[in-house]
Amino acid sequence: MRFQYGLLVTLPFAAAQLNELTKKAGKLYFGTATDNGELSNTTYRKILDDTNEFGQLTPANGMKWEYVEPELGVFNFSDGSVVANLATKNRQILRCHNLVWHSQLADWVTADTWNKENLTAALIQHVTREASHWAGQCYAWDVVNEALNDDGTFRNDTFYNVLGQEYIKIAFEAAAAADPWAKLYYNDYNIEYAGPKSIAAQNNIVKYLKKSGVRIDGVGLQSHFIVGETPSQDDQVANMEAFTNLGVDVAITELDIRLDLPANQSNLAQQSLDYQATVGACLQVKGCVGITVWDFYDPFSWVPGVFTGQGAADLWFGNFTRHPAYYGVIDVLKKAVKNGW
Ligand code: G3I
Repeated sequence: MRFQYGLLVTLPFAAAQLNELTKKAGKLYFGTATDNGELSNTTYRKILDDTNEFGQLTPANGMKWEYVEPELGVFNFSDGSVVANLATKNRQILRCHNLVWHSQLADWVTADTWNKENLTAALIQHVTREASHWAGQCYAWDVVNEALNDDGTFRNDTFYNVLGQEYIKIAFEAAAAADPWAKLYYNDYNIEYAGPKSIAAQNNIVKYLKKSGVRIDGVGLQSHFIVGETPSQDDQVANMEAFTNLGVDVAITELDIRLDLPANQSNLAQQSLDYQATVGACLQVKGCVGITVWDFYDPFSWVPGVFTGQGAADLWFGNFTRHPAYYGVIDVLKKAVKNGW
């Protein structure tokens, strides 16, 4: 507000936004996942392209194996390049997702009968070609995604069944050689709180790689949560510190918090508290570099398609108004900026 010629004039002001505040609070970015088919929605795009809101993008699908290497030795980078190039154009940080995962694999990977020798060669070729293609563009790579079961044992997928734990090493080694600039991450869900899965990620992924002399720079805490059931902020902080004490960064890589539909005042209020706990935990931990939501617009969320009756997990409703959780996150960020975290 300002006095002008004796009159009180209200000037328009820009409200503080997610990425802007996150950076002021000392983190690298507040970002979002997005996907090629979503980019033609002009209202959505306006928000996505606004770097005060989102300073980082993750392609939700285009860099996955089935799109990148649909046949052995046949590579196609066109799907993955759409979001990668948008990030470059917008000057947004790019998190690249992912090189090795049991899901969304090309059929030939799961159908073939492999031995150690030919699967090692195929794995090295995939990681090398893909990571080289985007070398220099990715701030971080999710090198291996979701290798663990909830009880902490390794998931019995093609890679583990043929190569054992060593496939983790092979993948990270190849990624390090192909892209020396990218931070190399292990990324998983249900490792956001203490328990056998988090312990296994610490021991059998982070310590294992470090002991083997292989580079790992970070652990991605996906954070696909349920309203009212998220770990407390203190638990999330302690868990993050268990990782950062091993000499790696952490990042919130896929945050969304789903609720039982319909959304109402009470579940949205709880959702706001739950978002605040996760964002607050990252702000509290020096080695937590940034926060990524797994898309920001409810109609583009993966949740309703997978969990019947659940949804409204993101920060924007279908009519493009914002969830109370958006303002809750803004409040936590503002407090962090004020307290100088
Ligand atoms: O590409 C096909 C397309 O050809 C076909 O016409 C269309 C018809 O349904 O399906 C398309 O594939 C879909 C793909 O997304 C691309 O839109 C798949 O059916 C669908 O299952 C797939 O879902 C993705 C899911 O991973 C697969 O597990 C979600 O969009 C994506 O958000 C989600 O992301 C994962 C992370 O990568 C890892 N962590 C969990 C997270 C949520 O599941």
